[in-house]
Amino acid sequence: MNKKMEQMEKGGATGGINTSTVAEKTKANPGGASKAQKLIPYGGYFTNTIPGHDPEITETEPGTPLGEYMRGFWHPICMSLELTDTPRFLKIMGEELVAFRDKSGRVGVLHAHCVHRGASLEYGSIQERGIRCCYHGMVFDVDGTCLEVPFPPGEEKEAERFKCSIQQGAYKALERNGLIFAYMGPPDQEPPFPEWEGNFTVADTDELVPFSNFQHCNWLQVQDNAADNFHTAALHSAKQVVGGHYQGTTFDEVGAPSMQVAPDMQFIPVHQGRGLACAGARRSNDDHMFIRVQHQVLPNLSLHAYTSEDGASKKLFSRFHIIRWTVPVDNQNSKMIGWRVMGPSIDTRGIGDKSMVGYETIDFLEGQVAMRRPERFGKYKPEDIVPIPTHHRERHNYKECQYAPGDYEAIISQRPIAIHALENPTKFDAGLYMFRKMLRDAVRGTNPAASPQAFAQWMRENGGSPNSYCSGNVFHLPKANDVDEEVGQRRHLSKKVVEIITSNENLKGTERAQIIQQQMDDLEKETKQLLTQKAFQKKTSA
Ligand code: FES
Ligand SMILES: [Fe+2]
Repeated sequence: MNKKMEQMEKGGATGGINTSTVAEKTKANPGGASKAQKLIPYGGYFTNTIPGHDPEITETEPGTPLGEYMRGFWHPICMSLELTDTPRFLKIMGEELVAFRDKSGRVGVLHAHCVHRGASLEYGSIQERGIRCCYHGMVFDVDGTCLEVPFPPGEEKEAERFKCSIQQGAYKALERNGLIFAYMGPPDQEPPFPEWEGNFTVADTDELVPFSNFQHCNWLQVQDNAADNFHTAALHSAKQVVGGHYQGTTFDEVGAPSMQVAPDMQFIPVHQGRGLACAGARRSNDDHMFIRVQHQVLPNLSLHAYTSEDGASKKLFSRFHIIRWTVPVDNQNSKMIGWRVMGPSIDTRGIGDKSMVGYETIDFLEGQVAMRRPERFGKYKPEDIVPIPTHHRERHNYKECQYAPGDYEAIISQRPIAIHALENPTKFDAGLYMFRKMLRDAVRGTNPAASPQAFAQWMRENGGSPNSYCSGNVFHLPKANDVDEEVGQRRHLSKKVVEIITSNENLKGTERAQIIQQQMDDLEKETKQLLTQKAFQKKTSA
């Protein structure tokens, strides 16, 4: 890690936005050029050397520090619909795996290569119990136990002896709402499955609709994007679309133009350093202020507040519409895999479309995956396991994607593994730098609350169902008289919102929601009063 990144991570970790660290960034010298050289017009020559990526927080193969850390958690590895009558080949954190559902309904996640002589079990046949390797016919149960060695008659004893001498690599799996999760760490350290908010829902009408969206890049830049709330103002803005080539990529198109207003961000570590709350304040109209709080949890979970919020009327403590894990496939590929939470409780404007949520597709903003919807739904059915384009520049709709790019184009084009040493972060990048710092510390063992063991213990203490802080909050608060007052008002509000949502930890579910809504209502009144008292006016020295 270079000095620039250290400084930015330190600045972020204090909980504030430290602009001086941003100013310091140009001290970095990744390509051997001086600070002055790097600022020379037409001086690309001085910055044409590409330094290496940051392996400590990007690489996840077995034996890497981050890989070992991540293996301490449950991760979704595929969708249930990917388990058909043939085994499913998967790559997760660089490991080649085969997942299948045997004929008795149990899910197996095994090392792909047969422990006998390495044939891939993706060519095996699914049995009543376990899977049979195609090459010499050995059968393995879902826990890796060898059940059968088909030697000829007279060799039963030798078959039995051999059977007991081998074990196919296997990982424990569980299935939830259309997703297959696996735990790939040491069996004796298996953590409880994290049941956020009890069962990942907050209302009886909430429905968890599974999806899996492949990303042609390292997992961390996909995770970084969750804390990068500032990008919505540019990337998802109607005014950025070239030549009127709208493709469902903008918030304007779903009637939520307030999401295109640049938010003022506050980034606050939560749950003793296990997660981060990113609170963005933006004005949705002259009478309403929208505070959107995103919640990220180490190492790779993020909960996202309603993105189709029009901010037109008061709404307090509306919850998550996406729960997702960013799962490394290998160092240069990953997938966003999780649930769209659908139903009237969250999707108050009825924007969601379940028929577009699934394998390599999601209904929220076009441009989340390599394949655009006209191609996806023109050729394939929603339940099809479609082929994933191999490279973003080889897509036949490449030009359309240039006219109206989405998150996929922005994120994966940061290079297969983004080069942190070349970044010039602004104060609005502080959130993702904080998250990187929390992650790095967790990997190094210097963020003790975030170790897999501490996470597991914390999960057991709160009954396996921690509260999440993700929320969309629209306050009825008129625009202040001047910019300074407006800034004061929105920052006050953001901080107080995070205080409120994090200070009712002993409460759960509806009881917690009611108290939080009451406290936010009081906050609205208090803020109105402070505005009347001119408390947010800039104090000028005499
Ligand atoms: S390689 Fe699988 S049984 Fe021989
Ligand atoms: Fe985005």
